Amino acid sequence: MIGYKAKDALQNGWVISETAFDARYLAKFETIFSQGNGYMGLRAATEESYAGERRNLFVAGTFNRFANQEVTELPNAADMLQLDIRLNGIPFHLEKGMIHSYRRELDLRQGELRRDIVWEDGQGAQFKLCFRRFVSMSNLHLLGMRVEITPLTQPAEISIVSGINGQMTNSGAQHFLEGERRIFEKELLQLTAVTSQSNMEFVHTSAHQLYRRGTRLQAYPSPSMERRKVRLTYRVQADAGETISLDKIASVHTSIDADWTGEQNGRPPLAEFARDNLLAAACKGYDQLFEDHAQAWQRRWESTGIEIGSSDDFDQLSIRFAQYHLAIMTPAHDSRFSIGAKGLTGEGYKGHVFWDTEIFILPYFLYTEPGTARKLAEYRYHTLNGARKNALDRGYRGAMYPWESAVTGEEETPEWGPVDVVTGTPTYIWTGKIEQHITADVAYGAWHYYQATGDQEYMDRYGYEIVMETATFWASRLEWNEEKQRYHITDVIGPDEYKEHVSNNAYTNYMAYWNIKKAIECTRRLMQTGNEVYTRLEQKLSLNERLKEWEEKAQRIYLPQPDAESLLIPQDDTYLELQVIDLEKYRNQEQVASILADYSMTQLSDIQVSKQADILVLFYLLEDWFSKEVKAANWHYYEPKTLHDSSLSLSTHSLLACDVHDLDLAYEMFAKAARIDLGTNMHSCDEGIHAASIGGIWKAAIMGFGGVRSWEGMLRLNPMLPNAWERLSFPLYWQGVRLQVTVTRDQLVVERISSEANAGSDLREMNILIHGRPYALKDQLIINSF
Ligand code: BGC
Repeated sequence: MIGYKAKDALQNGWVISETAFDARYLAKFETIFSQGNGYMGLRAATEESYAGERRNLFVAGTFNRFANQEVTELPNAADMLQLDIRLNGIPFHLEKGMIHSYRRELDLRQGELRRDIVWEDGQGAQFKLCFRRFVSMSNLHLLGMRVEITPLTQPAEISIVSGINGQMTNSGAQHFLEGERRIFEKELLQLTAVTSQSNMEFVHTSAHQLYRRGTRLQAYPSPSMERRKVRLTYRVQADAGETISLDKIASVHTSIDADWTGEQNGRPPLAEFARDNLLAAACKGYDQLFEDHAQAWQRRWESTGIEIGSSDDFDQLSIRFAQYHLAIMTPAHDSRFSIGAKGLTGEGYKGHVFWDTEIFILPYFLYTEPGTARKLAEYRYHTLNGARKNALDRGYRGAMYPWESAVTGEEETPEWGPVDVVTGTPTYIWTGKIEQHITADVAYGAWHYYQATGDQEYMDRYGYEIVMETATFWASRLEWNEEKQRYHITDVIGPDEYKEHVSNNAYTNYMAYWNIKKAIECTRRLMQTGNEVYTRLEQKLSLNERLKEWEEKAQRIYLPQPDAESLLIPQDDTYLELQVIDLEKYRNQEQVASILADYSMTQLSDIQVSKQADILVLFYLLEDWFSKEVKAANWHYYEPKTLHDSSLSLSTHSLLACDVHDLDLAYEMFAKAARIDLGTNMHSCDEGIHAASIGGIWKAAIMGFGGVRSWEGMLRLNPMLPNAWERLSFPLYWQGVRLQVTVTRDQLVVERISSEANAGSDLREMNILIHGRPYALKDQLIINSF
């Protein structure tokens, strides 16, 4: 069903295939074969329709609230993919007739989806159908598709209905008010629509070109319109062996696009603008547009490509799959938006942004594409006012980042979720109220960005303010415990969401402490400079007063310490006292979260069972605060109690297994993490890709086996390859300098490739700690037997 080998062996490592059609697994392939460019994401529904399919096209940042009691979500734009193909009047449909051969494949190198089929119609006539599709990397608004149909056994009448279908919904919620439908010059279709609450205009446009044996045909398609639909029907006779092809070039524009400044200074309305652009693109033709797109992918791979020499070819494929999805999910063009937990590949999590971005995805961009990392770091500044409002609404000060974020920074977590198996009512979702560690995670992301890039301008304009406002939130959030004479944080959810309403979740307390300490450090540093950044922030935030409060409170935050004997750090005040049950059944489950069929969330709070890595995440975010022994002891205690029911879990464990020098286990967990979406579980990603897990594949490979870490402005490399790998080579940006790191079994080579024009950093020696020893890098470092 799912294949990892290319038809041409030279393409191995670049191609993922669906080797037979099975409608039960539509959703799996729709997700993993999704295409996009960060502006839009197109789920890989097939041209012909099947029951159970999800035909999704999302445009980053275009959130709309369907009804007052609902949260905002990314609306499903009009469908431009669907083709109703009839061959001698018989609908082309793979559940009818007979399939003689079938193969669909995603080519990661070129961002192309291809499908080749030989199909018999049930009456003995055979046809070859080839479909091609891309979402342009070189023109963010554009997508192209081509269908080639060849009757193999006898002449045939081929009819294709192609159009724009605005009847799409998000699981029944119709986010658009009907706009205009038009057909221009017989072959150019346009459908506009406006989101019902956020009032954003969407313009969908498509052009068609019909060919016989490669020669353009003067076609006279019949036009039709229905409610929210505009279509053309092409009818053409083809001899046996004669190929008819239809190219469709389509585009989406919205009124919030950064490249659209509105109807001013003589600019035409958006629909006209979109039409002009589409016509200009369509003139180039499918082949040229595809070529431009493929070259953009090629440039991307040249600068970001990672090589893994492994005894299992899947490893190389999986890191490319991860990089492919990281590229298509990230709105690198616009810092007003960030990455949804399912990217742009499905309705899951409504397009909302979580801690997934800062802790699991941002590292990839920091070290591989710092320009994009800056956009992601800026996003949290654009949402700072929303976070301030959240804090105020909840009776706190400073900025309280939302657990689920969209565009404004206000809380977007829905209140009700899946069924509670005990009560039969929907489960209340507490995360939006009490999963508060996100606020420190955001500050950590801003700081991490600054450390890895040295981008002082970012810090001056945005970063300091984020760190200070989040610290202020924590200062107001801390609760004084008279008996213990220290500050507690009660009633939260930590990263382990199977524990609700806990107190002193170690992850939350340590990160809050880190956040306040960082604000103190930044404020002190700014005070010393006395520069205009300090003056501005002092005026805006009254830093002097805040500093006193931070200093007083930081000293007294309760930080759960490792037990003197067992070295265990309690995950929260009660975890270690909870009941221990046999978790084997759930640890060997086929589908995640099977425990929720037996226990309600309330019951889970009474058992020593974890959904995902919790305290362990601290061990690499704040790696110098914990000894190797403490890390190992806690790893061995908590991992057996963890079901890895969140896709964020395995990659974290893999990375930390490297730190406790269990490379076999690290590799086993890497291999599992790499298969969450791409593996053979045919339902693991029906709702969309696991964006954080995709970032986690990179983290496990590069921060785990490649050993890339940083601490307080110093780059560290502690590479250690698992047995299966003989080579790992990857690009690494550090403070504006591009390095290439190559690790083999007995050698580490760090090369300086180039540096950004600023700061004369070309000339500077760069200090790196390699397995704990300081090295100065000028052009190249070669270290043998490390
Ligand atoms: C995880 C969270 C994560 C969210 C979005 C949940 O299942 O527990 O940690 O942020 O999914 O990916």
